[in-house]
Amino acid sequence: MAKIAAPKGVSEYFPDRSKHFEFIREVLIHSAKVAGYELIELPVFEDTELFRRGVGESTDVVSKEMFSFEDRGGRAITLRPEGTAGVMRSVIENNLDRGRLPVKVYYSGQFFRAERPQLGRYRQFYQVGIEAIGVADPQLDVEVIAVADRAFKRLGLKRYRLEITSLGDSTSRQNYLTDLRAYIAGISLDEATRERANINPLRLFDDKRLEVRDQLIDAPVLLDYLTEQSAQDFAAVQESLTILGIDFVINKRMVRGLDYYTDTAFEFVHQDLGAQSGIGGGGRYDGLMSQLGGQDLSGIGFGLGVDRILLACEAEQILLPEELGLDLYIVPLGTGEAALKLAEDLRARDIRVDLAFGDKALKGAMKSADKSGAKYSLVLGADELTSGLVKLKDMKTGESDSVTLSSLANELNARISRNGELS
Ligand code: HAM
Repeated sequence: MAKIAAPKGVSEYFPDRSKHFEFIREVLIHSAKVAGYELIELPVFEDTELFRRGVGESTDVVSKEMFSFEDRGGRAITLRPEGTAGVMRSVIENNLDRGRLPVKVYYSGQFFRAERPQLGRYRQFYQVGIEAIGVADPQLDVEVIAVADRAFKRLGLKRYRLEITSLGDSTSRQNYLTDLRAYIAGISLDEATRERANINPLRLFDDKRLEVRDQLIDAPVLLDYLTEQSAQDFAAVQESLTILGIDFVINKRMVRGLDYYTDTAFEFVHQDLGAQSGIGGGGRYDGLMSQLGGQDLSGIGFGLGVDRILLACEAEQILLPEELGLDLYIVPLGTGEAALKLAEDLRARDIRVDLAFGDKALKGAMKSADKSGAKYSLVLGADELTSGLVKLKDMKTGESDSVTLSSLANELNARISRNGELS
């Protein structure tokens, strides 16, 4: 029968690479948890209207890239292209904003955008994100940035930079847009582009075509239009980043692909990833909650692209902590049941154990032990069971020493370092 391939442009992870993917995801989540962010688990599909209103009609994400369909009840449904709108929907619907503020949540999972697939750009991709909702304080902006930066540093990434800007509050934006619209009126654009620019003139800066880009070189820059409050907040963000030792550059021309951003916006850009270099991005979104029918509270967050962070770690040749592999591989010699019992006893004590199945000959089983990447191996035959003594072989040095079965768990726990692990 013909084989079935995965749909075009999806990312998937299987051993051995999935171990790296999983480790990265855990590091990102851990970084959020130690800063007090709690899990929010949301549906991967939502009412299409949520993204139209939340993310914005003029964005590529909403106008071109949504996986939308009608469900059996005739409702308009969309696979989530991003996480912030869904979090806000849930916060409003479940009154999470009526308790202690800010609401601090993290999420991780699949997101969907019908983009043209290429390395680092997928139709189903994976994000870890956080959102802090309900307090407008530049220190919170910096905390959010620090959560991402701390995770990247913990992974050992070096070849990335943090770009920041301020998109201003609504007054800054209004003043700026008046001038930008006047500027745009004076340049030459095709009709479709002009229409897009009419909905949101900022979207013009997304345009990749040279003839459009060239005409925007002298366009006014939002940073020059900040109100006193926005300018003060942006200065406070920079000062705190400096105090925390987080390097950044200001990118005056940053355009985020989603419409809800106000004031602080940021992107993490990796130097080795070519066109898809954004490993994470986020910012403040002060009008989003009221736009979605909630109170007028502010929010800030980020989404980190786990697929791209994995590519970045591979590009920088970052190795996984070796503690994450197997601790022990057991080779049973006609002792299947006893071997499985031993493995389970050790696993119950958090020792990572695998064993050979299927009555393999000793030679084949020893090969499996080599390939397993385990730190130690042992052979369990009738003799070992009778004497209660096994030869514990260190797979790196090839040296063996005798250990009693009753002290095996203690012995292994004493030898295994868990330094690289997350608590
Ligand atoms: P975003 O910049 O659209 O922001 O996406 C965040 C990250 O997701 C990107 O920096 C990138 O690493 C990854 N990403 C996006 N699209 C793809 C794709 N097609 N393939 C692979 N990776 C991708 C947001 O989604 C906002 N919700 C972030 C946010 C949270 N802002 C405030 N709170």
